[in-house]
Amino acid sequence: MQEPLIARRSPYAVNVEAGETYAWCACGRSQSQPFCDGSHQGTGFAPKLFKAEQSGPVHFCGCKHSQAGVTCDGSHKTLPPAASSLSAEEQMKRFEKDLKEKDWGHQPC
Ligand code: FES
Ligand code: FES
Repeated sequence: MQEPLIARRSPYAVNVEAGETYAWCACGRSQSQPFCDGSHQGTGFAPKLFKAEQSGPVHFCGCKHSQAGVTCDGSHKTLPPAASSLSAEEQMKRFEKDLKEKDWGHQPC
């Protein structure tokens, strides 16, 4: 399976309503973060459902790497830096490392 996209490197604070069910975006592609908008089609990802037991703020994971599921557990602090924050040389080193280590799968022409 592909890696989820990092929608952002911090949680989304959302006021939820008790008894309501929310479909959290697991793939990172939704334009309606932190919730699913159907953009996961064809990625192998599916939204994760969250049923609110009480009304109030919930910090939904924005980086899509939380070990706690839909809510932030601080894992965003351990993510590698964004490519845009790296120098051209650092980006090239990361690209070469990814080429060696990651299975990019077959890309149809
Ligand atoms: Fe990301 Fe649906 S759009 S899981
Ligand atoms: Fe994903 Fe915090 S935003 S773990």
